[in-house]
Amino acid sequence: MTPAPRTVAVGGDRPYPIAIGPGLLDEGPRLADPLRGRHALLVSDDRVAPLYLERVRRALQAARPDLVIADHVIPAGEASKTLQHFGATLQALAGLGATRDATVLALGGGVVGDLAGFAAACWMRGVDCVQLPTTLLAMVDSSVGGKTAVDLPQGKNLVGAFHPPRAVIADTGVLRTLPPRELRAGLAEVIKYGGIGDPAFFQWLQAQRDALLAGDDAALAQAIARSCEHKAAIVERDPLEKGERALLNLGHTFGHAIETAQGYGAPDNANLNHGEAVAVGMVLAARLSALLGMADTADTDALRDLLLAYGLPVTIPAGLEADALLAHMRLDKKNLAGRLRLVLWRGIGKAEVVPDVDESAVLAVLRGG
Ligand code: NAD
Ligand code: GLY
Repeated sequence: MTPAPRTVAVGGDRPYPIAIGPGLLDEGPRLADPLRGRHALLVSDDRVAPLYLERVRRALQAARPDLVIADHVIPAGEASKTLQHFGATLQALAGLGATRDATVLALGGGVVGDLAGFAAACWMRGVDCVQLPTTLLAMVDSSVGGKTAVDLPQGKNLVGAFHPPRAVIADTGVLRTLPPRELRAGLAEVIKYGGIGDPAFFQWLQAQRDALLAGDDAALAQAIARSCEHKAAIVERDPLEKGERALLNLGHTFGHAIETAQGYGAPDNANLNHGEAVAVGMVLAARLSALLGMADTADTDALRDLLLAYGLPVTIPAGLEADALLAHMRLDKKNLAGRLRLVLWRGIGKAEVVPDVDESAVLAVLRGG
């Protein structure tokens, strides 16, 4: 029997539900429920669309025969998270004749979610967005919390808006087609939640490695729900990242610098993807914390060992220069008054934001690998 979907509620000024379970993309009434108007734009990428777009369109149309549905498919990969594709998505909304009560449905991973969400934030100064995440990373992180953005050559996510979705519908059945490398990338963000504030979850992840890597449904559903509960609690207290939401960026300043320095690639190339870059970044943040005397090296080792056990990279790829990485880190959105502001930790489950981090210590860590 198919288990009932789990639901995580995100509270605050603009509350919305996250539904998690198998088969949800076939549930027309669930997909149609958050839609207010007559227009829907389905945004996806050219790997996800052939697998799932028609299913979603059929289910939606059956539930809402009056709905005018168009689609917009971008090339898969981080290289599509650009102002150019943002513009093309807006053109698709114009072509649809989308009015202010239109809904953008983002069917894909974090790239589609961030791009489509940003288009929804800007079309007619903001229309609804429903996130239909299809990667583990998008289910546990990017579809929740309303951060939308595109990249510039100078840095990741430099142009964007906070625009919470009307609903997040995570069909865990689609994880069966997710390449193993992308599953592992999502698990890096899952491990992040243990690292920033939940040592018991960190231990659970140590014990559940085989089940999670094998794609065990129950273990994955548990990992997704726990991660969403963490993210929901943080973003409802701090939706605009004035404070504690920054903790969700453990490893991200280093990781984004790696992603920017290597160039935003197509899928499956040798470059680290986002989750992999975050894995390396978390180890660098832990090592910096130890160097600054904030944490024990045993915690760095435990984090590195867990990431390695999940098949994730833990060192900076060859060929990336420490000085160039530091230059990219200076353009991070958390920085204030030209000072490096990083998420570091005092050990597993005890992350904190540290303002004005000494650049020479950061360089030492970057040079050490
Ligand atoms: P992605 O969107 O590039 O997806 C990874 C690959 O998997 C793509 O090739 C995609 O086509 C393919 N794919 C997706 N679902 C599939 C499925 N079910 N079956 C088969 N193939 C599938 O990458 P991602 O890791 O999901 O997201 C990374 C992006 O998310 C980055 O741009 C990152 O900056 C962003 N992000 C945003 C937030 C946020 O809060 N907004 C948080 C974390 C990450
Ligand atoms: N992924 C970081 C955040 O949503 O704040």
